[in-house]
Amino acid sequence: MAPNPTPTLPPPLETNQRIWPLTATINNAGHLAVGGCDLVELAKQYGTPLYVIDEAGVRTAARGYVDGMARCYPGDSLVIYASKAWNMLALCALMQQEGVGIDVVSGGELATALQAGVDPARIYFHGNNKSEQELAAALAAGITLVVDNWLELETLHRLTLQNGQAENRQAQNGQTKSEKDKPRIMLRLTPGIECHTHDYIRTGHLDSKFGFDPDEVTGLFDWLLANPQLQAVGLHAHIGSQIFELQPHRDLANGMVEIYARGRQLGLPFSELNIGGGLGICYTMDDDPPAISVWVETVAAAVAAACDTIALPYPKLICEPGRSLIGSSGITLYQVGARKTVPNVRTYVSVDGGMSDNPRPITYGARYSALLANRPQAAADELVTVAGKHCESGDVLLRDVMLPTMQAGDLLVVFATGAYNASMASNYNRLPRPAAVMVRDGQPAVVMVRETVEDLLRQDRLPPQWQKA
Ligand SMILES: Cc1ncc(COP(=O)(O)O)c(C=O)c1O
Repeated sequence: MAPNPTPTLPPPLETNQRIWPLTATINNAGHLAVGGCDLVELAKQYGTPLYVIDEAGVRTAARGYVDGMARCYPGDSLVIYASKAWNMLALCALMQQEGVGIDVVSGGELATALQAGVDPARIYFHGNNKSEQELAAALAAGITLVVDNWLELETLHRLTLQNGQAENRQAQNGQTKSEKDKPRIMLRLTPGIECHTHDYIRTGHLDSKFGFDPDEVTGLFDWLLANPQLQAVGLHAHIGSQIFELQPHRDLANGMVEIYARGRQLGLPFSELNIGGGLGICYTMDDDPPAISVWVETVAAAVAAACDTIALPYPKLICEPGRSLIGSSGITLYQVGARKTVPNVRTYVSVDGGMSDNPRPITYGARYSALLANRPQAAADELVTVAGKHCESGDVLLRDVMLPTMQAGDLLVVFATGAYNASMASNYNRLPRPAAVMVRDGQPAVVMVRETVEDLLRQDRLPPQWQKA
């Protein structure tokens, strides 16, 4: 008889493949805990809605990218966090500690990264309509600008020449600037690569507001050669977000290496290639993203192979994930309130937050998974729709899901809310934005203080003639 084949265990899930945070457990009290902190206790201490971030989960994902790039890519590499996913001091500082740079898309995100102590050499500034003030702030900080269009290129050039005149005056006083101090720019290209994701989060197809069309490359390269005041360090592209396929990333790598090589042949000082982010995460059991390690291996191998084919020195390979670095490590904790049953239609259960703290369901029809923090093992015996508290019928967080029969006071945990929730939050209906706590080894740390109604009113003004004497 043939021996039984050795049983193989399925590979362990990586952070972006879990619906719940890496450190989520059920504790001795029978409650859900994350980072060693009982979620019921966190709700008591900090109130709800509450964002909770699993620090170990974020660090594990960051190390997955950084170590993976170092292991799989034969050249130099850098991982940068697309901080639009959630830009705040604590996450920027954590990324700096992990050797991860930051991608920013506004003066506000830039100021946050700088204040968090992120090395300017690792900050990259994106955006399709940067203001002149934002460009000036970027130049002053010495970060890299990812140029999106001709207007930006020309404005940057003008600002650089103006700065140069000031520097010439300094040079007469004995202070000079070296070649490497020239403003560093990359060009964002729209490579015409299609991928399967929501239309609002696809960016690499030709009909996109972002970046230069590949047809413009020849003109752009000529312009850069004629205007060496800007140091063109390389190319960037990003094809979209919440992508599960690997092939579009391979196609992107091949296409970008070819254009990068053309630029170098013409004499441009290209040394960096940024292939964007986009790896998806698991929101429900239907989602099946590749692991971070597999994504990194795929991208690194594709770029290295494309370079080898034409004997091109390996560029510094940059990737800029957002969602997959933090999405699965964030949860939102809500208190359950009112119920309404529409006979033969559905039962609504309302919570104390909604589209103001998580606009993704109403914006993209995004789906989520949930559990009760106070009764995580209770049987899911009721089909319900979890609604937010906003004056908007579409304010629904979870539509037609099986959950334990909920009562007022239960604590609902919605998983995988770390990315594009707090960063897209609003004050719709004048709801103050939630607090956020980062948890690790049983220690919670407040990383965002809960807004108050006073915070909201602080920005309002009555016309002077209406004010009482
Ligand atoms: C330019 C750019 N880079 C990186 C990202 C991050 O994408 P993701 O969060 O899907 O990794 C985005 C988000 O859409 C982006 O627009």
